[in-house]
Amino acid sequence: MAKIFYEKDASISEIVDLSVGVIGYGNQGRAQALNLRDSGIKVRIGARKNSRSYEQAVADHFAPDSIEEIATNCDLIAILLPDEAMPDVYTNSIEPYLSSGKSFVFAHGFAIHHKLLRLPDSVDILLVAPTGPGKQLRSLFTQGKGLPALVAVEQDFSGVGKQRGLAYAQAIGCTRAGCIETTFAEETVTDLYCEQAVLCGGMPELIKKSFETLVNSGYQPELAYISCLKEVKLIADLLFSIGMDGMKDAISNTAKYGAAITGPELINASTQARLEQVLQRIERGTFARDFMAESKAGHPTINNMSEQEKRSKMVRTGKALKDSLEF
Ligand SMILES: NC(=O)c1ccc[n+]([C@@H]2O[C@H](COP(=O)([O-])OP(=O)(O)OC[C@H]3O[C@@H](n4cnc5c(N)ncnc54)[C@H](OP(=O)(O)O)[C@@H]3O)[C@@H](O)[C@H]2O)c1
Repeated sequence: MAKIFYEKDASISEIVDLSVGVIGYGNQGRAQALNLRDSGIKVRIGARKNSRSYEQAVADHFAPDSIEEIATNCDLIAILLPDEAMPDVYTNSIEPYLSSGKSFVFAHGFAIHHKLLRLPDSVDILLVAPTGPGKQLRSLFTQGKGLPALVAVEQDFSGVGKQRGLAYAQAIGCTRAGCIETTFAEETVTDLYCEQAVLCGGMPELIKKSFETLVNSGYQPELAYISCLKEVKLIADLLFSIGMDGMKDAISNTAKYGAAITGPELINASTQARLEQVLQRIERGTFARDFMAESKAGHPTINNMSEQEKRSKMVRTGKALKDSLEF
């Protein structure tokens, strides 16, 4: 059984006297900074001047500093930049200003696990990875609840790295829900694998192909859209709340029988062999290397996919339906 930490296992006092800096004020940065401030932590924001994030931080009543300023003056620094931006920002704006004894917090292990950043031996390297987007982290916090997180210590220079990480998790609300202990390596590999195999790769692709199959066979796109895409939420909600067996109990016998014969016909040992290849590509660092090259080239693969999707029948059907159907 994984080790799980709750509010009773953490104390904000571990970081309340530290100067805490959040570098990056995007999805995670904004939510984490607001939660930290509401928990009584002295937070400073590091952001590029005249950017959208800078303006947002000002609108939220922060007085943003430069990233160099945060690197120089803060004791605990959360790096909440896009993973691919971290190496350059670290080299140019953080590393030259570092002194020993600081604690660094990451929301994803990618840059550290793949050695895109090489922090000195004289700092803590901590992971507090919320298991959802910043908006959800913030909205649950304001309701007195929390989002579960994964926590890890890669390097414990201070000797209190774990306590600091848990205090940070407490201050952003995650210990209210539970924080699972892991490692940077495990968090990175499992996170990348799940987004590729299921959440953002496998499942959306299955939806697209299923939609196209119906439409190519002459069925109405609106019906195909509702059954292949919209209804995913109903099943996802059942899976989330009552698990795989509960979901199967909640559907009709017709659906159960169809699932029993068609599921394994589509997703089987040959799929599993390909899933293993996906996992190996991540474990061997090939995916990280390719992704960094993609980023340096200006994201041609991502841009191409977005363009194709924008023009696709499925997306156009969804947009048209949005205005005419309550769902
Ligand atoms: N998104 C999620 O749901 C989620 C969930 C869990 C963990 N995480 C992790 O959280 C971390 C942050 O991700 P995110 O999704 O919050 O990022 P994001 O929303 O894309 O935020 C990016 C922030 O970084 C700034 N930034 C980007 N490039 C920069 C550069 N070259 N120099 C200076 N500032 C730059 C942006 O500022 P500008 O306005 O100046 O561009 C913005 O404030 C990542 O490690 C990610 O893996 C994300």
